[in-house]
Amino acid sequence: MEKQRENFGSKFGVIAAAAGSAVGLGNIYRFPCEAGENGGGAFLIVYLLIIVFLGIPLMLSEFIIGRRSHRNTVGAFKTLAPKTAWPIVGFVGVISSFLILAFYSTIAGWTLECIYKSLINFYHGKNISEIEQGMTNFNNSFRPFIWQTLFIILTAFIVLKGIEKGIEKYAKVLMPMLFVILIILCVKSLTLPNATEGLKFFFKPDFSKITPEVCISALGQAFFSLSVGMGVQITYGSYINKKDNLLTSSTSVVMTDTLVAILAGITIFPAAFSMGISPKAGAGLAFNTLPLIFNQMAGGYIFCLIFFILLAIAALTSTISLLEASVAYFVEEHSIKRKKATIWCAIGALIVGLFATLSLQDNSNIVIGNMSFFNILDNLTANILMPVGGLLITIFIGWQLKKTAFIDELTNQGTTKIALKNIIFFIIKYIAPLAIVTIIVGRLVFNIK
Ligand code: PHE
Repeated sequence: MEKQRENFGSKFGVIAAAAGSAVGLGNIYRFPCEAGENGGGAFLIVYLLIIVFLGIPLMLSEFIIGRRSHRNTVGAFKTLAPKTAWPIVGFVGVISSFLILAFYSTIAGWTLECIYKSLINFYHGKNISEIEQGMTNFNNSFRPFIWQTLFIILTAFIVLKGIEKGIEKYAKVLMPMLFVILIILCVKSLTLPNATEGLKFFFKPDFSKITPEVCISALGQAFFSLSVGMGVQITYGSYINKKDNLLTSSTSVVMTDTLVAILAGITIFPAAFSMGISPKAGAGLAFNTLPLIFNQMAGGYIFCLIFFILLAIAALTSTISLLEASVAYFVEEHSIKRKKATIWCAIGALIVGLFATLSLQDNSNIVIGNMSFFNILDNLTANILMPVGGLLITIFIGWQLKKTAFIDELTNQGTTKIALKNIIFFIIKYIAPLAIVTIIVGRLVFNIK
């Protein structure tokens, strides 16, 4: 007998929770890093193409798999394709979510440090090198471990409270607030001297810079940012109400996520160019540039504080979804109590995560080749596991689940009219897998050193 499962209370709740998973450090920290390192405008154009042709279809596919099966990532494949090897895809997704939680919580911890620094007015009157030095000192101390631990405890606390009372309640109020403050920041950044240079870098594509490397980075970033290709959205999809329109829900989530990333770009690049920070500054782009903008604003102290609080919350709604994916798996597939599953998954992620944090310190020897353990986890998940996961999910919909089941779920058993249903299916069945394979193979063929 199927156990009574929770559902999201409202349609807005679904979108807010799925968008809460999508919007996070990936948009405000990772997106500018990737765009900065991969040629700005060239990256943006590839990114946007991937969002439209792969992001929306994949988000929709995951919602369909989740809602049709009403199960966690692994259980979903077991239900829809019994006695096949498909559940392995779900299992790899659970492993990805666990690994992402581990290294993501490192950066999430940084947001708490920034809240603390804003609170004690550390940034006031400081120039860029002083702010950078502050970040380096922090990174080499024991504080990142404390913040990271605290962040994981907070995440576990909310996951313990369950779906509607925990996740949905928080996401609904906080996501719109983040959006508003980002727009205020954006406007301020655009008025800084030399802002247009930053805009040019971000929006003007230099087509000669589109390389296989840029394409795989854009693909990885898109999947990472949307939280697709590893089952988080399958898990959330399983909580969606039977009557909701999955196409509009998935499109809204993708558009919200993309808008936030673009707003982050419009905020960060003009400010970076205006203050002489290289677009390749990596982590410093978000964590050091933004306080500088606040320094120049009236009411900067309070805006800076609110911004980092909201960023921490955006990260929290993402870590919640990452933990929820693993917890739902253990609860439903292994009949482990929710509390026990949450605590053990959190402890596991924290242990791996502490090594990721340690690997970022100066003179750390947790490196393989010349990559830190943190970067290995990041690359392994975003550039390998998620693209391959996404590929398999589209193949699953197109070739295993079959068109009738897809259309049936998409149209809510024929009760909702979806004009483009055949084209969408065609994209999922043929275009999306081909495009993902081309990008992965292109990168392998052209970049073997
Ligand atoms: N999408 C989140 C972000 O942009 C990160 C994330 C990845 C969350 C994968 C869940 C799953 O911050």
